[in-house]
Amino acid sequence: MKSYNIALMGGDGTGPEVLREGIKSLNAAASKFNLKLNYTDYDFGGERYLKTGETITQSGIDELAKNDAIFLGAIGHPDVKPGILEVGILLKLRFTLDQYINLRPVKLYPNVETPLKDKGPEHIDFVVVRENSGGIYTGMGGATQVGTPLEIATQVMCYSRPVVERCIRYAYDLTRKRNKKKTLTLAHKNNVLTHVGDLWVRVHEEVGNADYKDIKQDYNHIDACTMWMVKSPEFYDVIVTENLFGDIITDLGAMIQGGMGIAAGGNINPNGVSMFEPIGGSAPKYTGQNVINPLAAICAGAMMLDTLGETEAAAAIDKAVTSALESGKIKSLSAGKMGMGTTEVGDLVASLV
Ligand code: IPM
Ligand code: MN
Repeated sequence: MKSYNIALMGGDGTGPEVLREGIKSLNAAASKFNLKLNYTDYDFGGERYLKTGETITQSGIDELAKNDAIFLGAIGHPDVKPGILEVGILLKLRFTLDQYINLRPVKLYPNVETPLKDKGPEHIDFVVVRENSGGIYTGMGGATQVGTPLEIATQVMCYSRPVVERCIRYAYDLTRKRNKKKTLTLAHKNNVLTHVGDLWVRVHEEVGNADYKDIKQDYNHIDACTMWMVKSPEFYDVIVTENLFGDIITDLGAMIQGGMGIAAGGNINPNGVSMFEPIGGSAPKYTGQNVINPLAAICAGAMMLDTLGETEAAAAIDKAVTSALESGKIKSLSAGKMGMGTTEVGDLVASLV
């Protein structure tokens, strides 16, 4: 029997609630496919920070990294100044564990309302590969003459060739594996970002020409990409982009697939420990009310199994989410409007795995 150690980090707000529902489906898939999932709880998050003044220490990270994967609820606490936990825990983990891919599928499930007129599940099914270790998020830059009328601040979109190349290669491999439109769209802004944009464009072309002749290469400026995501999402198969652009377009992606309630993401180190999360945040105003939508966490759990190599178990959870939505029992994906509670949605999906 295959066995995996999973670090559970419920985190803040509704994080622990949605994680619990994700675990129900993971356990259902584990028993169906004869897997053993061993969970260890970790309490990193806002409450712990408020008590100890610590976000996450190196020894904490080392502990987490002993596991095969990390399943994360949400990070962000209303009593903690914005940025401290996000940078101190979420970004710290992404960087320290070199989770250089942020994988964010944009998939419209059946019976889910999209704000895009005349679009259905057959039109919205693509994946954003967001570079997750470089760019503006590295914090490179500085400020000078702060507080004076002439103060200056910079934050640099810094990329090295290897960091770009490993991301592009991952995206090509994924496009091949999906075996759908076989098109990899690079989204950047090389008409203005003539240095860093040019680097991305050349790597996309060179790597594609050398090793992925079966994959069609396509390029969008990032601003135009947001337009096409709304106008013709059916055009996309895999979009690869740098960190901040990817952050922005995946919020747009979440909305066209029906909202944060269903948007899952994976912070992936293909050779190390990856971390999976619903991308919606900690939603403090819904905490403890059994109204938050757990589907994004359930989908994140499926991504975790998929990344661990348990593709059948992952597909079973994804199919259960589809069936649960097809049943019509879930009235809406918005918190408080589902027509059932968080735990009931979790039970429903788990019962269909
Ligand atoms: C996300 C979030 C984070 C990011 C924040 C909370 C640091 O917006 O996961 O998309 O910018 O990456
Ligand atoms: Mn974001």
